[in-house]
Amino acid sequence: MSELLRYFHPVLPARKLGKSPVKVSFDGKGFAFFRDHEGRARALLDRCPHRFAPLSAGRVRPDGRLACPYHGWHFDGQGRGKSPSLPQLTNCDVQAFSVVEQDGFLWLGREGASMPTHETTGYELAGVFAMRFDAPLFVALDNFCEDEHTPYVHTYLGWLERDVSTVEFEAENGPDFTRVRYRARQRPAPIARLVGVRSGDWFHNDWVTRFDPVCTTYEIFWSSPETGERRPLSLRVPVYFVPLDERTTQLSTVVYARSDLGPLPRPVMALLKKLALGLVWNEFKDDRAFVKHVKDTPFETKGMRLGKFDKPLIHNHKLLERIYWQRPQDSTPPKADAPDAS
Ligand code: FES
Ligand SMILES: [Fe+2]
Repeated sequence: MSELLRYFHPVLPARKLGKSPVKVSFDGKGFAFFRDHEGRARALLDRCPHRFAPLSAGRVRPDGRLACPYHGWHFDGQGRGKSPSLPQLTNCDVQAFSVVEQDGFLWLGREGASMPTHETTGYELAGVFAMRFDAPLFVALDNFCEDEHTPYVHTYLGWLERDVSTVEFEAENGPDFTRVRYRARQRPAPIARLVGVRSGDWFHNDWVTRFDPVCTTYEIFWSSPETGERRPLSLRVPVYFVPLDERTTQLSTVVYARSDLGPLPRPVMALLKKLALGLVWNEFKDDRAFVKHVKDTPFETKGMRLGKFDKPLIHNHKLLERIYWQRPQDSTPPKADAPDAS
């Protein structure tokens, strides 16, 4: 079974699991998710021990057991199996996994897996979504760890090419994280006006990437270039990079929003959160549409002419290998820790 299940991963928005089982892919394997008679989410290997039919194509019985669609063998949340036609049959269990329902997602792990945490004090949950990228995990992560592509790939957030000379950038490579800060002029975006952002405002995008599991948490806000005062909306957005298989990555995204105007009437805050979720989703759609064109990029960066904005990319690759994949490290000293800025 996948070693990556030593970390809980948010594999499915919780609202997507109702009365029928759902097939979930993770690291090339299939899992059958279902809710038992108490509504508790469960996950079993999506392969019946009898003749390997997919349990996710079955149904949940009134007693909360998942029944195989082929010969009706049925299983509880711990995977303990029974055969209706051979009631005395033993050794007919299927592997079960741990599931946690939290922050709008169902998280899959093995017993004793570690659960990541986020500081969200002062923020309200705006919503969650899961978006599939046709690219390996590291390619999706490479895209999300630099903003140099912003004027070319994106629609609303960030700056235009004419303002690239004003972009401020800082990156820190830590022992188990990378931290990045961007500040640049917000491009004209009428929709951003709805959340109190004006064109020419400072757009701030600060983030930290961690690798247990792979998650980048963005802090996005705007400020007035004259007074430095923050505009009404701030976002905190943890994005989990979930490998469905070697070629496909799901970005499981939680959007938190905060009003910097103090407490707002409920309907106004509800609208602000809806806009925040829509803005983030729309920008991710832009990334998805582009990333498929670079899906075959090799993991090794040898031969690429990297620039200063790629500094986190090289470090991320090392941390992916050491922390997430736990692959033996190359003992040759890294050359390109600080790519030249020219
Ligand atoms: S394959 Fe599942 S009961 Fe036969
Ligand atoms: Fe992007």
